[in-house]
Amino acid sequence: MPLVSATEVLKPARAHRYAVGAFNCINLEYVRAVVDTAERLRSPVMVAVTTGALSYAGWEALPAAVRAVAEAAHVPVVLHLDHGQNLEDIRRALEAGFSSVMIDASHLPLEENIALTRQAAQMAHAAGVSLEGELGQIGGKEEEIVSAGLMTDPETVPYFVEATGIDVLAASFGSVHQKATRDAQLDLPRLEKIAAATPLPLVLHGGSGVPTEMLQAATARGVAKVNVGTELQRTFARVLRETLKAQPEEWDMRKLLKPSINAIAAVVEERLGVLGSVGRA
Ligand code: 13P
Repeated sequence: MPLVSATEVLKPARAHRYAVGAFNCINLEYVRAVVDTAERLRSPVMVAVTTGALSYAGWEALPAAVRAVAEAAHVPVVLHLDHGQNLEDIRRALEAGFSSVMIDASHLPLEENIALTRQAAQMAHAAGVSLEGELGQIGGKEEEIVSAGLMTDPETVPYFVEATGIDVLAASFGSVHQKATRDAQLDLPRLEKIAAATPLPLVLHGGSGVPTEMLQAATARGVAKVNVGTELQRTFARVLRETLKAQPEEWDMRKLLKPSINAIAAVVEERLGVLGSVGRA
C-alpha cells in the first residue's frame, strides 16, 4: 500500500498501549529485512532514515526503494526522516516523498527549539506529513552528534506541544543512543508525568539499549514509537564477520549478506513482539 503518515499508525498505538517499531535502515538489505518481517507478522512499521544514511545511499534512491517495497506490502509502512537538523533537511525529505519527518532542535535553548520546530511543523503539514519534535535531550551519540543528555521536564511539555504544533513528541527519560547492551534504566515516574501532560504519541529513542521489561513498561505508559538502530547495525556487522570467516573462499555477496539479513530480521521480529504491534495491521 502507499506510504502512510506517522500519526496514522501512532495514534491507535498510543490509544491501545502498544508501540510501533521505527528501525533505522541504511540500504535495501535493511529495508527488505524490516518490511518483509512486518509483513509476515501483520505489523505496522516505520522505516527510519537519517541524513547520514541518505548521504550514503542517496537522497532520491533510498526513499524510492522504501516506497517501492512499501507499495508491494499489505501492512502500513511509514518512511520517516530521523533527526533532521535544519529546515533544508526537512525540505529535501518532503521533496523525496517522506511520509513523516523529525526536526531535532533539542540542543537549542527552549525558545529557539520552539521557533525552529514550529517552522518545520508548518512545512510538514503543508505537505500533509506529520512532524516529530524533541524536548529535552536524549544522551549518547546519534550519527556524529554527541549529547550529554537532559531529561524532559514534564511541566514544559504542554507549552512546547502547543507552541510548535508537533504531532509526535520525542522525550528524554533515561534511554541513550548507541548502547551496545540492554541495560538503560528508564525514569518511569517521569514518563508518566510526560504522558499525562500530552495526548500525543511519545517516542523512545535509543531503543537498542532498553531492557525488554522496561520497553513494555514504557509502551504501557504512552510510548507509541520505539527507535531501534544500533542493535541492527551491530548484529549485521557481527554476523557478516562470522560469515566471512566461515566462508573465506565465497565471493557471491548475495550469499555472504543473507545470514546478516536474516539476523537483523530476527531482531526486528523479537522487538515487534515485545512492542505488541504484531497482528495489528
Ligand atoms: P539506537 O541506535 O540506540 O537504537 O537509537 C536509535 C534511535 O533512537 C534513532 O533515532
